[in-house]
Amino acid sequence: MALYSEKVMDHFRNPRNVGVIEDANGIGEVGNAKCGDIMKMYLKIENGIVEDVKFETFGCGSAIASSSMATELIKGKPVKEVRQLTNKAVAEALDGLPDYKMHCSVLAEEAIKAALEDYQSRTGISIDE
Ligand code: FES
Repeated sequence: MALYSEKVMDHFRNPRNVGVIEDANGIGEVGNAKCGDIMKMYLKIENGIVEDVKFETFGCGSAIASSSMATELIKGKPVKEVRQLTNKAVAEALDGLPDYKMHCSVLAEEAIKAALEDYQSRTGISIDE
């Protein structure tokens, strides 16, 4: 069996939503101290909906694929749904990651949560509602 699913390879080779949102209202940056990989998520939230999302990831192929898939999973979704996104859901949507690469999907969950918290502190709008 191939180490990586076709979906992982597809999102690694053709990542969706790469870049920066200049007028983002939620930005989250996280890193993994062990491997040194860094992920930054930009959210544009309007009326409780993630209208746009982009990312920059300096990291391994699994981290790039995880960020790409995570952006696809949250784009157009209400904040209260986006808050619930887990790294497991990201990995499942990619048809799985090897065990020792699961931490790469954790970066995606953490980057989105950090961006939502940033949105909350910038706007004063609760992400719990
Ligand atoms: Fe660090 Fe993948 S090896 S995020």
